[in-house]
Amino acid sequence: MAKRKTKFMCQDCGYESPKWMGRCPGCGAWNKMVEEVEIVGSGKRGAFAHSQGIGGQSKPTPITSIETGNEVRIETELKEFNRVLGGGVVQGSLVLIGGDPGIGKSTLLLQVSSQLAKLGQSVLYISGEESLRQTKLRAERLGITSENLLVYSETNLDEISRTIDSIAPSFVVIDSIQTVFHPDVTSAPGSVSQVRECTAELMRIGKTKGIAVFIVGHVTKEGSIAGPRLLEHMVDTVLYFEGERHHTYRILRAVKNRFGSTNEMGIFEMKEMGLEEVENPSEIFLEERSEGASGSTVVASMEGTRPVLVEIQALISPTSFGNPRRMATGIDHNRVSLLMAVLDKRVGMLLQNQDAYLKVAGGVKIDEPAIDLAIAVSIASSFRDTPTRATDCIIGEVGLTGEVRRVSRIEQRVQEAAKLGFERVIIPENNLGGWKAPKGIDLIGVTTVQQALYVTLGR
Ligand code: TYD
Ligand code: MG
Repeated sequence: MAKRKTKFMCQDCGYESPKWMGRCPGCGAWNKMVEEVEIVGSGKRGAFAHSQGIGGQSKPTPITSIETGNEVRIETELKEFNRVLGGGVVQGSLVLIGGDPGIGKSTLLLQVSSQLAKLGQSVLYISGEESLRQTKLRAERLGITSENLLVYSETNLDEISRTIDSIAPSFVVIDSIQTVFHPDVTSAPGSVSQVRECTAELMRIGKTKGIAVFIVGHVTKEGSIAGPRLLEHMVDTVLYFEGERHHTYRILRAVKNRFGSTNEMGIFEMKEMGLEEVENPSEIFLEERSEGASGSTVVASMEGTRPVLVEIQALISPTSFGNPRRMATGIDHNRVSLLMAVLDKRVGMLLQNQDAYLKVAGGVKIDEPAIDLAIAVSIASSFRDTPTRATDCIIGEVGLTGEVRRVSRIEQRVQEAAKLGFERVIIPENNLGGWKAPKGIDLIGVTTVQQALYVTLGR
C-alpha cells in the first residue's frame, strides 16, 4: 500500500535526512535543505528510483576490444554554437543549458531546432512554459518554416516519453526541466527530486535511442542551475547563456563538456529577428574605447582556441575613509590585490592608501594569467594619470618578484592585435624568438613590470 513519507534533501548535493537541518552535513551549504514528500510503494518503479544508469546490458570488457567509431556530430548553421559544443551536436548526448530568464534560451534553441530540421533531421520541441500559439508567434518572428520541426506543449514525462517513442525524433528540446513532472514522483514540479528523476529518465531515453536531448534549466539567484547541482554531474554537457539584459550581446559558455573543451565561448547578438552570431568579438569589445584616457589598456586574451581583444580599465583614487577598497568586475579581485602589492613592493608605487576599481569593458569575464601585465599597466596608468598609447596591446603574466612570464599561443594573440590595427605589442621577453611577427607590428619584449611601465608610460 502507498505510504506518504516526508524527508529533507539538500538542493546542492542531494544529501537526505529525516529531519530539517540548517546546514547540510553532506556539503556544508547553509539553508539548502528542502522538504520532499515521497509516496512509497506506488508507481511502477517507485519514486526516487535513481535511474542514473544508461540502460542496456554490459559486462566487464577489455578496453582494447571496445569498438568506438567516431561520435556522430551534426553541425548547425550557427558556427558559434557548434564550436561551444566541440564541433556540432553529438548524437545521443544530453545537453543542459542554463541562464537567467529572458536571456534568450528559448530563442536560441528554437533557432537551432529549425536549422536541424532544415538539414532533414526530425526535431521535437517540447515547451512546458509557452503554449503552441506563443511558440508559433516566436517562430514566425524568427522566420522559421520547416515541416520537420514539431512543437508540443506537454509537461507530463510519461506522455513525453510515449510521444518520443511514437515519433522517434533525432533531437528533443525540453523547455524547461523545471516545468516537467514525473507522475511517479509526488513532489511539485521544479523540486529537487522531480528535476533529478526527470533528467535521469530523459537521459535514459536519449542514450538508449540515440537521441540528442537539450534541456533548458532556470538559474537561481545565486547563478547556478535551479534544483540540484547534481544535474550537472548527470548530463554530458552544461552550457550557460549569459549576458547583461541591457546589452544585446549574449555569451554561450561551456562549463562541462564530455565531447569537447570547456574553454570555448560563443558570442551572439540579440536582434529583432533572433540571435545572430558575432564573428569578430574583438571589434565589439573595443568599440567604445575612448582613446587618450588614463587607466585603459588592451590585452589579447585566449578564449578557448580563439584570441579576443578586450579593454582593461582601472580607476585609482585616494581613499577618503577607512580601509582602501578593491573592486573588480570581470577579473578576480584577489589578482588585483596581488598585482597592486607587486607594484607597491617592486616598483615602489604607493598604493596602500588608494581605492582601486578594475573592470573588463564589455561585460566579459577573464581568468587567464596572460592579462596580468595589462592589469598592472592600467593601474599604474590611472595612478600616474598618464594614458598609454591607443595602439599598444599588452600581454604577459606577472610573477611575485615583478618578473614578466611567458604566455601560451603568443603568435595567435599578436595576429589578432595586428588584424585590429594595433601597432605595438608588449610581450614577455621569453616569448620572443621562434616565430615571426605580422607585418606592421612592432614587438617589444620585456622581462619586468618596471620595464613594461617604462615602455608604455615612459617612466
Ligand atoms: P527568450 O528566448 O524567451 O528567453 P528565455 O527562454 O531565456 O527566458 O528571450 C526573450 C527575450 O528575447 C525577450 O526579451 C525578447 C527578446 N527577443 C528579441 O529581441 N528578438 C527576437 O527575435 C526574439 C524571439 C526575442
Ligand atoms: Mg524560455
